[in-house]
Amino acid sequence: MQINQIENPSGSILVYPYWDDDEEINHVLPQKLIKKIENDNKLTPFAKNNYKRYFIDQNDIIVIHIGKKNFINLDSIRQFSSLALKRVKKYLFGEVNIFLFSKKWNLKNNDCIYAFLESLYLSDYRFKGYKKEEKLFDIKKVNIINEDKVSDFDKINEKCRIICDSVKMTRDLINEPANICNIDYIEKKSLQISKENNLNINVIDKKKLEKMGMNLLLAVGRGSIEEPRLIEIKYNQDNKKPTICLIGKGITYDTGGINLKPGSALDDMKSDMSGAATVLGIINACSKLKLSLNLIGLLPLAENSIDGKSFRPGDILVGFNKKSIEIKNTDAEGRLILADALSYSDTKKCNTVIDFATLTGAAIVALGTKITAGFFKNKTIKKKILEAGRKTGEPIWELPLFDDYKEMIKNDISDLRNIGEPPREAGTIIGALFLDEFIENKNWVHLDIAGPAFIKEEAFYNKKGATGVMIRTIIEFLENYNEIVDI
Ligand code: BES
Ligand code: ZN
Ligand code: ZN
Repeated sequence: MQINQIENPSGSILVYPYWDDDEEINHVLPQKLIKKIENDNKLTPFAKNNYKRYFIDQNDIIVIHIGKKNFINLDSIRQFSSLALKRVKKYLFGEVNIFLFSKKWNLKNNDCIYAFLESLYLSDYRFKGYKKEEKLFDIKKVNIINEDKVSDFDKINEKCRIICDSVKMTRDLINEPANICNIDYIEKKSLQISKENNLNINVIDKKKLEKMGMNLLLAVGRGSIEEPRLIEIKYNQDNKKPTICLIGKGITYDTGGINLKPGSALDDMKSDMSGAATVLGIINACSKLKLSLNLIGLLPLAENSIDGKSFRPGDILVGFNKKSIEIKNTDAEGRLILADALSYSDTKKCNTVIDFATLTGAAIVALGTKITAGFFKNKTIKKKILEAGRKTGEPIWELPLFDDYKEMIKNDISDLRNIGEPPREAGTIIGALFLDEFIENKNWVHLDIAGPAFIKEEAFYNKKGATGVMIRTIIEFLENYNEIVDI
């Protein structure tokens, strides 16, 4: 899909936004169109009837209601753009003209165009899957017509495309089933990304993990026919700049282990490597954008499977940082593989460490599928990441690393237990507190993406399945990272 910025429509397919504002709207939309809309009286904002198709003067027009003027924000623009593409694709193909009125909506021109672009690119995604090819209308060219042109459109467009392509790459990885996207597959993908972007990559295999004492990662992966491993990727742009470590949970399939997940709880567990795929997406985009900082990506990869060799409830394990853990539930495996990766990251002396993990079902109970649970050690970093999430339309809600609850993961015959006692209380916080036992870094951030990483229903620019959540937010954060002085 090619996107341009032009002054006058080219061709006869036009898409207009419509909003509730009696005074001004009459001055911007064509009079004939306004009359038709008013006569119809059926167009309502963001509901089933939020769009209409009209034929006026040989033009094929689609109008989409985007709400009340005072409530129009960047997310309304993203919704408009995803709906525009969806509606147009239903009937038409070829070249489409879409109108924007950033000034009328009191939005910054660049922000408005960027939000529009990203949602268009992200909406233009479908997991190819394994069905015989369906015939879909294809939009080849989109022309944006805004009151004010953006001066550096090509630059903005290119940046946006790089980031959205990375999000789509991550979505593809997550959507692939576990019989395809297994540990070897993620390793190959990591090697490919590294080669393409000239990155340094180190695959730490089972033998080396044993030498290093990464016994938590090894234990979780023991029941699988594939050997667990830790992939380390380095993006080194400027030695004078800080290094940020990104860690992603990479469970290629989570059966729950001997504490087998019941029935439908297994359905989407191919997505339990979303954290690892997120890290690959961020590193891929940042290196293509040539961001002026350094990144280390750590992907602990394992399959949590059942077998005679599987680790069991009651086992006591000692990992990379030497704390002993009694396994109380083999389904709380993500925190184990992350624990080893987090402790290992401390040896790298990074400025900030951010981990991404589909860690707890409790995060879905607490915050649903649109909000990421965030845990922060540093106030400035917290502020910047929450801000970035608001800007990109990927909300993050902070939960506390509440000290009193640390008692809940203390154990009688080992330092720690891998689930809380009582087991069902404050699940997401307990997961984070467990991780906290394994990392010293003062600027650590933990993002539990169990809710938004993989969704059951399409939500505007996020299709059913993998979303690639947090890639855009963390890139936004990293782009401004050098401005954070007091960390
Ligand atoms: N991968 C799951 C968490 C998850 C659940 C992600 C649903 C996405 C959707 C994780 O490994 C897990 O099973 N966690 C357990 C922890 C419990 C045993 C303390 C959970 O959430 O039930
Ligand atoms: Zn699990
Ligand atoms: Zn898991």
